[in-house]
Amino acid sequence: MAPPLDAETTDDLLRRGFSRRRLMAIATVFGAGAGLAVATRGTPAWASGGHPDPAPSAKVRIGANECWTGPLAPGQAAAAAIIASSNRYSPHDERGDFVRAVMSVEGVPEDHVAAWPGSSDPLSRCVVTFCSPTRGLVTADPTFELAGRTAEWLKVPVARVPLTKDYTHDVKAMLAANPNAGLYYICTPNNPTGTVTPLADIEWLVANKPEGSIVLVDEAYTHFAHVPTASYMATAGKDVVVMRTFSKIFGMAGMRMGYTMARPDLLARMMRYDGGMQSFALPLPSLACATASLTAADLIAARRGEMQAARGVALDHLKKRGLSVIPTEANMFMIDWKTRPASAMQTAFRGQSIEIGRSWPIWPTISRVTVGSMAEMEAFCTALDKIMA
Ligand SMILES: Cc1ncc(COP(=O)(O)O)c(C=O)c1O
Repeated sequence: MAPPLDAETTDDLLRRGFSRRRLMAIATVFGAGAGLAVATRGTPAWASGGHPDPAPSAKVRIGANECWTGPLAPGQAAAAAIIASSNRYSPHDERGDFVRAVMSVEGVPEDHVAAWPGSSDPLSRCVVTFCSPTRGLVTADPTFELAGRTAEWLKVPVARVPLTKDYTHDVKAMLAANPNAGLYYICTPNNPTGTVTPLADIEWLVANKPEGSIVLVDEAYTHFAHVPTASYMATAGKDVVVMRTFSKIFGMAGMRMGYTMARPDLLARMMRYDGGMQSFALPLPSLACATASLTAADLIAARRGEMQAARGVALDHLKKRGLSVIPTEANMFMIDWKTRPASAMQTAFRGQSIEIGRSWPIWPTISRVTVGSMAEMEAFCTALDKIMA
């Protein structure tokens, strides 16, 4: 039996047009005690969304947009140090330390920050909070699919809008696709293309979108591209939620940490399903690791440099081979095999113990490859030569 949602949340969902059956499902996945429901009933619909199957047996794993290496050294040290005092729920206000780190790095006020276990939860939660059967979701195509899958699971209408010829989000077409949507999802840099949508385009969407709708800006890969953030829109009182994760450049995918920056009333609406439990109940080692990592600006820049060097080697090799690659600013690139299906290429690479990424239905001959370490990129190039021969 799913734990009940409070009366106010139930009324809100019914008023927005969700059926009583959907309410039950929402309570199971997002409600207080959801962790228990998930553990006892199996994986919720949204949890697997967008994540390719892991391939633990492959020697080179460049298929899932993970970092090639673990947390930054200060993060690892902070996580290890706090284990000894983890008999306390909060030995020194570690959650406060984390929020203060976000405030200092991003320049946002305390009440505009919410911490989460990764960003999949707040991403799905945005769909539940801001969409309804009458106010749909608009996403790009191709993009990270979790928002779209959550919307389908909730029976919320979804519009998928192709990227522009420069592979940025086509914000005008997105608005035209549903001029009364509840949520417009912008992923920048975009997964899977690694392309950045200009802030001016996002500002245009924010200025022209219908009243009451929200623009969600997913900046999971922002540190790899080193581009300005959209967080100033969140602090200027706009209908914008900016989302970050520690699963990418910070190498903390298995530690589950992320945060959102938004107006306090928007954050409160996102938290109502479980009384803020997901946002507050975070493991101390993850909090400590994230706090020490976020502020390590020099190490972040060095890791970005490492990624750029490894990416450069792979892209130069692909160019020499005459293969066409979408210009990227992040830790992934897309190769168009033209005459060969991407699924066949993935199988061929598996034969070389290399797990490359998948394709998206809109582009069946294009594979996404994650940038790994320099050694992994060299192994990728060697395998490519063998496969092409
Ligand atoms: C664009 C984007 N957003 C969000 C996520 C969710 O990641 P996590 O839940 O680990 O933060 C991913 C994961 O690949 C992603 O690519």
